[in-house]
Amino acid sequence: MNNLITSGCGLIILLTIFAFDADAVTENIGKCCGVGEILHEYYNGSFSCLKDNVKRQSVNLPLTDVIKDEPAGKCLELFSSKFFEIEFSNGTITGKTWVNETVFRKCCPLGYVYNTVKHSCDLKNDLEYSFVDQPLIKVGLPECHIIVDELRISLDNDNSSLPEGDYCEDETSGGFVRRKCVDKSVCDEIRCVKKCCPDGKSFINGSHCFDTYEYGLNLSSTTKIENPTESFAIIHNNTRCKGIFYVLKESRYQFNLLKDGRFQYWYNDSQSYKQETPTQEGPGYCMEYSKKKGSTGYFFFSCMEVPPKYGITKYPKILSCIFLALTIIIYLFLSQIKKLFGKILINYCVSTFMMFALLIYGQFSVNAKDDQCVIVGFGIVFVATVSFAWLNVMCIDIWLTFGSTKHSMGVYQRRKELKKLLIYTAYGWGMPLLLTILIYVLSITESLSDTIRPYVGTKTCFLEKRTGNYAQLIFLRLPHLLIQLTNAFLFLKTILYCLRIKNEIERINDNKDEKKAKFNKDKEKLFLILKLAVIMGISFIVDTITSFVDLNSLGTFWSNVEIVIDFINCLQGVYIFIIFICKKSMYREFLKKLRIKMRDAYMNNTNDSFTSTTRMSLKHVGDSSTVR
Ligand SMILES: *[C@@H]1O[C@H](CO)[C@@H](O)[C@H](O)[C@H]1NC(C)=O
Ligand SMILES: *[C@@H]1O[C@H](CO)[C@@H](O)[C@H](O)[C@H]1NC(C)=O
Ligand SMILES: *[C@@H]1O[C@H](CO)[C@@H](O)[C@H](O)[C@H]1NC(C)=O
Ligand SMILES: *[C@@H]1O[C@H](CO)[C@@H](O)[C@H](O)[C@H]1NC(C)=O
Ligand SMILES: *[C@@H]1O[C@H](CO)[C@@H](O)[C@H](O)[C@H]1NC(C)=O
Ligand SMILES: *[C@@H]1O[C@H](CO)[C@@H](O)[C@H](O)[C@H]1NC(C)=O
Ligand SMILES: *[C@@H]1O[C@H](CO)[C@@H](O)[C@H](O)[C@H]1NC(C)=O
Ligand SMILES: *[C@@H]1O[C@H](CO)[C@@H](O)[C@H](O)[C@H]1NC(C)=O
Repeated sequence: MNNLITSGCGLIILLTIFAFDADAVTENIGKCCGVGEILHEYYNGSFSCLKDNVKRQSVNLPLTDVIKDEPAGKCLELFSSKFFEIEFSNGTITGKTWVNETVFRKCCPLGYVYNTVKHSCDLKNDLEYSFVDQPLIKVGLPECHIIVDELRISLDNDNSSLPEGDYCEDETSGGFVRRKCVDKSVCDEIRCVKKCCPDGKSFINGSHCFDTYEYGLNLSSTTKIENPTESFAIIHNNTRCKGIFYVLKESRYQFNLLKDGRFQYWYNDSQSYKQETPTQEGPGYCMEYSKKKGSTGYFFFSCMEVPPKYGITKYPKILSCIFLALTIIIYLFLSQIKKLFGKILINYCVSTFMMFALLIYGQFSVNAKDDQCVIVGFGIVFVATVSFAWLNVMCIDIWLTFGSTKHSMGVYQRRKELKKLLIYTAYGWGMPLLLTILIYVLSITESLSDTIRPYVGTKTCFLEKRTGNYAQLIFLRLPHLLIQLTNAFLFLKTILYCLRIKNEIERINDNKDEKKAKFNKDKEKLFLILKLAVIMGISFIVDTITSFVDLNSLGTFWSNVEIVIDFINCLQGVYIFIIFICKKSMYREFLKKLRIKMRDAYMNNTNDSFTSTTRMSLKHVGDSSTVR
C-alpha cells in the first residue's frame, strides 16, 4: 500500500476508487472506533469507544476499529463534537490534532435513508454510500429555518455550486434528495409546515427536542390537514416560542391547516376564525412528533408565552416565601403563638406564603391547558382572599381591644379569647371559601352572561381578565377593595380613639402604670399593623391599577415600570419579616429564649434530681414573660 501511494500512479488509482479528497490528514487512515461509535476519554487518560446517540457527525472510512486492533498508530474520530486525528500507543492517547477539512452534508445518519414523505430518516441495513465523497460527515440541517426538498435521479450531474452548510444530500428509496436551506419566499410557491423542533429532532418526555431522525412530519396522521399528500417545506424557528408548548387537542380546539400553509383556528374570545401564515412573526402553531408516557404521535402545538415579568418576579416571590417561613418559624420558636395576635399573624403569614408558593408554581410549572391550572387558579383566588381576610381580622382585633384595660388573665378571659379566635377563623378561612365556591359555581354556569361569568384556568391559572368581562373586578377586586376600605375605616376610628386616650392620660396625669403600659403596648401594636396595612394597601392599589391598565402596551419604559412595581410588590414577605421580626423587643425575647433553652439543656445534662424544680420555675418565668 505504501508503495502504491508513493508512486503517483497509485495515488490516482486510490482517488478514483474511494473518490476521497486526498488531503494529507485523511489519506490512508482508519476510523478509531467501530461504525456508530465515538471516542470517549476518561480523566485518568484511558479511553473507550461508546455508542453515539446523537449521530450529528461521524467518520465514514472503510477501515474501522483501528484503536482496538492495533497497538499504536493514528486514526480519525469524533471527539467532543469535533473531528480529531488521534495518535495512540499502549492503550493511551498520546496526541490529538484537530482536523479542519470540508465535510459532507448527509441528510440522514449513516445507516439511514431519507423518507421523502415524512421528511425523516428510515433505518436501513447494507447501504453503500458511493455518493458520500468525504470521510467526515455532518448530518442534517438543524440550523436551517426553512428546508425545501429537491428529488433527483442522481447527485453527480450538478454543476451549480452551492455554498457549504446550506444543503444536504442523501439517498431515498427511489433515488436521491438534495435538501436546501432557503428563505421564506419559498412559502409562496410550496406549502410551508411549521415544525416545533429543528430538522431531525422531535419531542421526548415533554417539549424537549432530541435527535431522533425517524419521525419528521406525517401529514396524513391527522384529518386536520388539507391535501396531506402534497409535498411541503419545513419551517422552523426556535426563537419564536419563549414560553411553553401545549398540545392543541383535536377534541377541544377547532383548527385546520389549509393547503396554502395558513393555519386557521376558532378563537373563543372573539367567536370567530383567525388565520396565521407560516412566516408570520411571533409564536403560533407548530406540528411535531411527541413521545411521552400516555400520548405518542403527531400533534399540533401552540405556544403559551410567559410574560417577561413572570421570569423576573420569580426571585422576589421566592424571597417572600423564605421570609414568611422565617417569620412563622420565629413566631413559633418565641411562643408568640400563645397570644391571640400571634395566632392571627401566623394565619396571615401562612396564607400569604401559600399565595406566593401557588403563584410560583402556577406561573412556572403549570401549562394553562393542564387540569392543575384550574385548581391552582381557584387556589390562588382562595388564599389571596384568605390573606386579605386575616389582615382584616388584625384590624378588627386591634379596634376591638385597643385601650381596653381588662385583665388578660383568668378562665373567663381565656374562653372569651377562644370564642373570638373561632369567630376569626370562621371568617378568615370561611368567607374566602364561600367566595371561591361562588366563583366556581358561576364559572360552570353556562347560561351566565359573558360579561360577568368568571373564567379560571383556561388561559392563565387565575381568575381571567378578558375584554368585556368584569368577573375579576366584581368577584375579586371588589371584595378586596371592601376589605381595604373597612380596614381604613377601622384604623381611622382606632387612631382617633388612641389620640383621645393619650390626651386623657396626659390631662389627668394618670400615672396608673397598668393602664399606661397597656396603652403603650396597644399603641405599638397599632402602628405595627398600620405599617403592614399601609404597605398592603399601596400594594393592592398598585396591583389593581397595573392589572387594569396595560402598561405593556405603552412602550418599553412603562413595561419596565411595571416590572419594577411588580418586583417591589412581590417582596411582601420581606416587609412582613421586617415589620414583625426586626424589632428590638423581638431580639431581646429571642436572646432570652435562647438563654433559657441553653440553660435547660445544660441542666438536663447535669444533676437531674437537683434541678427539676428550678427548671420548672425557670420555664414558667420564660412563659409568663412571653405571655405578657
Ligand atoms: C479509567 O477510568 C475508567 C472509568 O472511570 C475505568 O473504566 C478505567 O478502568 C480506568 N483506567 C485506568 C487505567 O485506571
Ligand atoms: C508499551 O509498553 C511496554 C511495557 O508495558 C513497553 O515495553 C513499550 O516500550 C511501550 N511502547 C511504547 C510505544 O510506549
Ligand atoms: C478551516 O478551514 C477553512 C477552509 O478550509 C478555513 O477558512 C478556516 O479558517 C479554517 N479554520 C481554522 C480555525 O483554521
Ligand atoms: C450545467 O450542466 C448542464 C448539463 O449537465 C449544462 O447544460 C449547463 O450549461 C451547465 N451550467 C453551468 C453553469 O455550467
Ligand atoms: C423519558 O422518560 C422515560 C421514563 O419516564 C425515561 O426512561 C427516558 O429515559 C426519558 N427519555 C429521555 C430522552 O429523557
Ligand atoms: C402516516 O400516518 C398514516 C395514518 O396514521 C399512516 O397510514 C401512514 O402510513 C403514515 N405514513 C408514513 C410515511 O409513515
Ligand atoms: C371554546 O368554546 C367551546 C364552546 O363554546 C368549548 O367547548 C371549548 O372548550 C372552548 N375552548 C377553549 C379553549 O376554551
Ligand atoms: C424567527 O422568528 C423571529 C421572531 O418571530 C423573527 O424575528 C426572525 O426573523 C425569525 N427568523 C427567521 C430566519 O425567520
